[in-house]
Amino acid sequence: MRVVLVGNGGREHAIAWRLKRSASVSNIICPNGNPGIAREADVPRVELESMGDWAAFAVEQRADMVVVGPEAPLAAGLTDACTARGLKVFGPTKAAAELEASKAFAKDVMQSAGIPTAKSDTFEEYDKAFDFAKSLGLPVVVKADGLAAGKGVAICTTEEELIRALTENLKDARFGESSRRVLVEEFLVGEEASILAFCDGASVYPMIPSQDHKRALDNDEGPNTGGMGTYAPAPVVTEEILASAYGTVLRPAVEEMAKRGMPYVGVLYAGLMITGDGLKVLEFNCRFGDPETQVVLPLLDGDLGEIMMACCEGRLAHARVGVRPDHAACVVLASGGYPGSHETGKVVHGLDQLEAGNRVVFHAGTRAGDNGTVLTAGGRVLGLTAWASTLQAAVEDAYRMAEVVTFEDVHLRRDIAHRALRRTAP
Ligand code: AMP
Ligand code: GLY
Repeated sequence: MRVVLVGNGGREHAIAWRLKRSASVSNIICPNGNPGIAREADVPRVELESMGDWAAFAVEQRADMVVVGPEAPLAAGLTDACTARGLKVFGPTKAAAELEASKAFAKDVMQSAGIPTAKSDTFEEYDKAFDFAKSLGLPVVVKADGLAAGKGVAICTTEEELIRALTENLKDARFGESSRRVLVEEFLVGEEASILAFCDGASVYPMIPSQDHKRALDNDEGPNTGGMGTYAPAPVVTEEILASAYGTVLRPAVEEMAKRGMPYVGVLYAGLMITGDGLKVLEFNCRFGDPETQVVLPLLDGDLGEIMMACCEGRLAHARVGVRPDHAACVVLASGGYPGSHETGKVVHGLDQLEAGNRVVFHAGTRAGDNGTVLTAGGRVLGLTAWASTLQAAVEDAYRMAEVVTFEDVHLRRDIAHRALRRTAP
């Protein structure tokens, strides 16, 4: 089949890489894909602005399926525009993507479906939000209701920080329309994990649980980022917790969405906090995680194209999906200064000097330079991914890759998978 892939970062490179290794897929077309994606797919340079432009492009390309990576086009209705033209789309409709695009909507779904989550309420008025936050006690979490590129969450440990977070959102509209409402939430203590699940509107199939490292610096210090590295499986998600995530989070969420007349098709990403009191949902995302995908897809056993098509056609229950018994680790190479201001345009060295193996360099923010060079073009630049029969070996191999592949002023965390490695240390 012919697949049009939307998005051009590390997550989309991982998707393209895996689709290329799917017997069901003959062609992948990823408009404006980065130089890594260009190794797996056709990457025509085209300007596609509206969702209608994208749908027209997919029709022109005779796409059998459109696969959407990022949340923004989903929230903007890309799926709806494509299905209106008779295309099959792996990714939720605009209505269903509200699970990520509106935290208030997500909480409402969780409440109706009895899904465990932090105590919270939503507010448009400063005073009411402040009073509720005070009633929860510090620390307390303030979240912009809408999409804020991963920057909308403030963990307030002092009253000053609480006042600042509420003011930035409700008075200064820091994230524009996304800030019009805030969610004020109880602070949860525990270990985080991500579970991504394939969904076909009725059935759910969880992929291997993974763990992201959101803070910029070692020991989980520094500002929040899009994610500095991941590994899978995450041992904090025991068999029991996985069963509980399926039974109390994923299945009820998909059933509730179907009941509301907005069946959920695509990847449902549950961001979980594993607390002393069981698991609780921190957030839902309506797509693959980035960089979770970079470790989850190398461990997927099955034909990704066929699995996605089965989701589009409501026959996931009969698809062959499995997990390989390996461990994977992804170390993100970021531009110095990320997530703050950083320079780009640096030459990436060593890409052609890596020995082959159970490893792959996923490109995130890169672009082609002159004479076949690859230049940095964003905050997160590359995801060095390796897999092996033990987590230790996978992590060591990913860091060996970082000795070969590098660029000026590179920033990386040196402690990817530290929680799991500590857990399994002799
Ligand atoms: P989010 O963008 O919702 O994933 O939140 C970003 C990060 O903030 C999460 O990965 C958590 O580390 C943290 N966070 C969000 N909500 C809470 C909460 N209720 N309690 C503790 N930490 C949280
Ligand atoms: N890695 C976090 C996310 O994709 O939202």
